[in-house]
Amino acid sequence: MIPSEVKGVMVGVITSAIVLAAAFTGGTVYRSQYITSKQPASKPLSPENLAAKGRGFFFQSCAHCHGQDADGGEDAPSLLKLQISGAHIALVVQSGIKDEMPSFAKKYNEQDVSAIIAYLKTLH
Ligand code: HEC
Repeated sequence: MIPSEVKGVMVGVITSAIVLAAAFTGGTVYRSQYITSKQPASKPLSPENLAAKGRGFFFQSCAHCHGQDADGGEDAPSLLKLQISGAHIALVVQSGIKDEMPSFAKKYNEQDVSAIIAYLKTLH
């Protein structure tokens, strides 16, 4: 027979262990939700956001030559049905084309260029 005082202590210990465990798990869940709702700005952009950003760059830097709809301007070809790969487009944008198209290497970093490419890919 276990004395009733010992039983009481055991029940108390078990109860507080459960309460502690619940508080601990609850706290963790709460904290992770808090972190999720405060996404850091460095999170990679979704494809839609990337293309929207690229659209801005396109109108700023490319549209006056390649046309507002990218379907070619007076002196520059259409970019709608490009046969070249994304990597090749990036290369053209970064290096430019001698006597034809300026280099954008100083103006746009790698992510900016991939944003422009993402935008061009939404156009076809
Ligand atoms: C000063 C006018 C001008 C601007 C600004 C310009 N381009 Fe061009 N781009 C050209 C010309 C002209 C060609 C064609 C050169 C040739 O075929 O020899 C060309 C070619 C290209 C090509 C290669 C097309 C192919 O079929 O190989 C790509 C891709 C391109 N441009 C993308 C861009 C992007 C993206 C921008 C903006 C960041 C841009 N261009 C800004 C004039 C321009």
